[in-house]
Amino acid sequence: MENRVYNFNPGPATLPLPVLQKAQEEFLNYRGEGLSVLEMSHRSKTFDDIINRAVESTKKVMGYGDDHTVLFLQGGATAQFAAVPLNLALKGKPALYVNTGSWSKKAIAEAKKLGIEHKVIASSEDKNFNYIPRDFEIDPNASYLHITSNNTIFGTQWKEYPDTGEVPLVADMSSDIYCRKYDITKFGVIYAGAQKNAGPAGVAIVIIRNDLLERSHDDIPTILNYKIYAEKNSLYNTPNCFGIYIVGMVMDWILEQGGIEKIEQVNQKKAQILYEALDNSDFYRPTAEPDSRSIMNVTFRLPDEDLEKKFVAEANEAGLVGLKGHRSVGGIRASIYNAMPLKGVQALVSFMKDFEKKNG
Ligand SMILES: Cc1ncc(COP(=O)(O)O)c(C=O)c1O
Repeated sequence: MENRVYNFNPGPATLPLPVLQKAQEEFLNYRGEGLSVLEMSHRSKTFDDIINRAVESTKKVMGYGDDHTVLFLQGGATAQFAAVPLNLALKGKPALYVNTGSWSKKAIAEAKKLGIEHKVIASSEDKNFNYIPRDFEIDPNASYLHITSNNTIFGTQWKEYPDTGEVPLVADMSSDIYCRKYDITKFGVIYAGAQKNAGPAGVAIVIIRNDLLERSHDDIPTILNYKIYAEKNSLYNTPNCFGIYIVGMVMDWILEQGGIEKIEQVNQKKAQILYEALDNSDFYRPTAEPDSRSIMNVTFRLPDEDLEKKFVAEANEAGLVGLKGHRSVGGIRASIYNAMPLKGVQALVSFMKDFEKKNG
C-alpha cells in the first residue's frame, strides 16, 4: 500500500496490513451491528463472540487444548512481573529466575518487592547480556523458573528451553510470542504484552496450564488474580475490547499464512539474510553471540555513534523507520516481528550495503 513505511519499531510495532484493513472496514459498523467495537458492551453477545474467537484462535495457532486457559489482561507484561509471583509462588519453595537483561531484572525486582523467596540462578550480566546462560541447576523444590524468552533490548533469544522437570517453566514471551513453534508441554505459563508480535498495546496475553490456577489464593489483588480472570473468561472487569478484537484477527492472520510453521520459516529467512549481511561486513558489528541471536530483534553497532545517528536518519528518509537501538544500549536494532515482510528486510539489507559503500 502506498505511503506505508517499513516499520522496525520494537513495540508498538508493525501489524499485518490485512488486519488493519479489516479493522478499518469494520470500524464504524461492526458486521451490521450499527456500532463500533469501541462502543459495544463487553457484556454483549457480539463481544462474547469476539473474545471467544480470539481465545480459540490463540489456542489453535500453537495447538493448545482444554488443559490451558488463555487470558487477555491489562497492565501489559509489567503487571505480569507481579502477577506471576503472586499467583504461582508457594511457601517454602523458592521462585527461580534467569537474568538475561533489563526485562528479567524488572521481573526479579517485583518478586523482591513482594517479599517472595526467590533466587537468581544464572545471569549474563557479566557480558552485558549478549548471550543466554546455559549452565545452571534447577532446584526441584522450586515454585517455578522464570525466563525472558527473547531479550528485546539486547537482541538475544533462548534457542532451546530448559528442561525443568516438575517445576513449572514461566516465560515472558513479550517480544517473541508465536514467532516459531514451541513445545507447549514445556511451559506452565507464558505471557506477553501483545504490542510486538500479537496486536496493539494494552492487552497482555497469558496462557496458563489449568492445574496452576489452583495456586491463586483469595488475598491476591483481584486485578492480578489468574483464577478469577479465568473463571470470568477475562471479563471480571471491562477489558481492552478493541485490543482483544485485534489480537484475534492477528491470530487468524497467522493461521491464514499457513500457520506457525510457515511464519517460522519466513522469520528464519528474514533473520538469516540480515545476520548474513552483518557477518559479511567489517563495517557492521552484531552485538549478540551467534548461538544466542534473536530472530526478532537484531542488534548491531556501526564504527561510531555519529555514523549510527546518520544511519538512522538516512534509513528514516528511505522509509525504514524505528531502527534506533534502545536508549540504554545505543546502536541499531531492527525488530523484524511476524508482520514485517521479507521485502522489508531485503530493503533494509540493500540500504545497509549502500550506506556502507558511501561511509565505510
Ligand atoms: C521482553 C519484554 N518484557 C516486558 C516488557 C514490558 O511490556 P509492557 O510495556 O507491556 O509492560 C517488554 C517491553 O518492551 C519486553 O520487551
